Amino acid sequence: MPACPAPNAPSADLLSRLAALLGPAGLLTEQSDVEPFCTDWRALYHGRAAAVLRPANTAELAQAVALCARDGVAMVPQGGNTSMVGGATPDASGRAVVICLSRMNRVRRIDPVDLTMEVEAGVTLKAAQDAARDAGLMLPLSISSEGSAQIGGVLATNAGGNNTVRYGNARELVLGLEAVLPDGQVFHGLRRLRKDNTGYALRQLFVGSEGTLGIISTAILQLQPQPRAVEAALCALADPAAALALFAAFRAQDPALIQAFEYMSGAGMDLVTTLVPGASLPLSEPAPAYVLVELATPRANADLRTALEDVLGAALEDGTVSDAVIAESEGQRLALWKLREEHAEAQRRAGASIKNDVSVPVSHVPDLIARASAACVALVPGIRPAPFGHIGDGNIHFNLVQPEGMDPAAFLAMDHRIMDTVADIVRDLDGSFSAEHGVGRLKPYMMPDWRGGAELATMRRIKEAIDPGCVMNPGAVFPSDEQPDAPAHPG
Ligand code: MLT
Ligand code: ZN
Repeated sequence: MPACPAPNAPSADLLSRLAALLGPAGLLTEQSDVEPFCTDWRALYHGRAAAVLRPANTAELAQAVALCARDGVAMVPQGGNTSMVGGATPDASGRAVVICLSRMNRVRRIDPVDLTMEVEAGVTLKAAQDAARDAGLMLPLSISSEGSAQIGGVLATNAGGNNTVRYGNARELVLGLEAVLPDGQVFHGLRRLRKDNTGYALRQLFVGSEGTLGIISTAILQLQPQPRAVEAALCALADPAAALALFAAFRAQDPALIQAFEYMSGAGMDLVTTLVPGASLPLSEPAPAYVLVELATPRANADLRTALEDVLGAALEDGTVSDAVIAESEGQRLALWKLREEHAEAQRRAGASIKNDVSVPVSHVPDLIARASAACVALVPGIRPAPFGHIGDGNIHFNLVQPEGMDPAAFLAMDHRIMDTVADIVRDLDGSFSAEHGVGRLKPYMMPDWRGGAELATMRRIKEAIDPGCVMNPGAVFPSDEQPDAPAHPG
């Protein structure tokens, strides 16, 4: 890829054109208004921006992008600002503009026959789930940050989450897409077809592109029938191998019932029950490992409770599970999920933490956890491994909390060494260094080593073809030798 031209700061003329286009609600230029958009939620990245653009619809977005592109101004798309890898934080130059999609927040249409939903980029995932549920359907994508994360960002990062084991990642749910290209043209792909083999599936290029190829403005998502029954249980186990044995038992019974199968370490659970108000363990004693299993079915008259009890009963008998609690009400089911969903928040409260969002073949998860824990403890004595996540699809958040009493900045300064230690083991186990969080600004340095040769070269050629001016989310995904203004990290 030829060197990117250095982005320009927006001129006074550009800002007044944007003001005329977007109106007072659509353009923020006061630094006090702009600042909240320049730091990620973990406060690891601190950038600056010349302005925040808040278009109200696709036409405004397209015109704003065209104006910025013409002047060579870099654009950083931002949804709910919940990236785990600094994917939506502008650099430190102060020349870029942030494009925030939150005013484009309409659920346009739900079709109960097609089982589809047309939804604008700025709708939160939670609001989209609620709208589908109110229509008697289900949007089967669930992530811990769903209350803030927006559909545009969820798709741009190909979010995975808790239901991948059954329904796939965000990519699998996208039937149609509308996106604004880096020059302001609109890619009109809002089709709701299950079959559509007409050349390249361009919509899929934008899914997982992390805002480097354009800005997703609207999507058509595949829905599912709403489950008629849901059952959840929290199980105590000895180790990750027992978790896989339990997973195999549920699959042997009926793989179509498993809606989520989540792993939590004893250390991670301890942080949640100690640091998160209102979180307590509903089992008689703590265990080295836990699984939260959720079964669901849209079938009428399915005896899901018996199905759950049958597998758990056998697992208690043969020792795979040492204890288990089944949710007896919707409130209890949500309380079990709180123990899982608050893992990231508990780790944030525990001090500095380093996230390794990795995946390996499901069969290798026990090896991954054992080997990476030992290697990290050897590297940083006192480090607290707190692995958890989507064991049913092989995606483990191999997160590490700083040793107690260590200076958080000193710990964060070791992030590449720690990430590389984990990554070496992940590579040995045929895995990926980024499972569902993306590359963002945290991991581009890993790309040449992991995706080198024809793979990264092809990605660069696609980038160059679609965004020759390098105006879309520069600094994300692609490694660059010259990133003098990369956002400050650690902060
Ligand atoms: C989750 O599944 O809760 C997030 O992806 C978490 C994280 O890495 O902290
Ligand atoms: Zn996750």
